[in-house]
Amino acid sequence: MRIVRLTQEHTFKPFDCGEGDLNEFLLQDAKQYLKGLLAVTYIIEDEDITVAFFSLSNDRISLADSDKATWRRIRSMFPHRKHRSDYPAVKIGRLGVNVKAQNKHIGTDILDFVKQTFITKNRTGCCFVTVDALRAAVPFYKSNGFKPLCKENKGDTIPMYYDLTQLL
Ligand SMILES: CC(C)(COP(=O)(O)OP(=O)(O)OC[C@H]1O[C@@H](n2cnc3c(N)ncnc32)[C@H](O)[C@@H]1OP(=O)(O)O)[C@@H](O)C(=O)NCCC(=O)NCCS
Repeated sequence: MRIVRLTQEHTFKPFDCGEGDLNEFLLQDAKQYLKGLLAVTYIIEDEDITVAFFSLSNDRISLADSDKATWRRIRSMFPHRKHRSDYPAVKIGRLGVNVKAQNKHIGTDILDFVKQTFITKNRTGCCFVTVDALRAAVPFYKSNGFKPLCKENKGDTIPMYYDLTQLL
């Protein structure tokens, strides 16, 4: 198994994570997002299949994205002189694991990889990982330490965040 950064020349191996929109993003949109500097996609593949993929973009967390209690908790993590109106983040825009490889902790390994990369190899400041989680995937993110940004959520996706400073 190897991880590669998507290039325009990449030939996709078969992929199905069980979510049509995510499959379509990888096979049809990911190269356009790369070209437009909107998202960088990383692919995990073996000899035969695309095992998993994830896409990353710059993001930020601000009061507008969260409820007041959550925002107070986020701000309280920083000393008063570092209080700001927003904090830098990296967004997992898309994440999918091939149905043939699900429930083998590959999704968890990917989240650990993102967390470690952004506290050790990042060239800019970044203190949170964010994701708009599909409802079915919320337990997966919760078991990996992500918390909802708002208590009430009626949409198809739940905005969630992970605090990278807890790893320092
Ligand atoms: C969600 C997804 C990325 C998880 O990847 P994975 O490699 O199968 O997950 P892991 O094996 O690392 O699971 C980690 C934990 O989350 C739990 N989990 C994973 N998917 C879950 C789900 N759909 N519902 C409930 N719990 C789930 C696992 O039981 C496991 O718990 P454990 O550590 O107690 O055993 C993968 O199932 C997937 O691609 N699903 C379809 C697309 C999708 O929903 N992507 C997320 C978009 S926001």
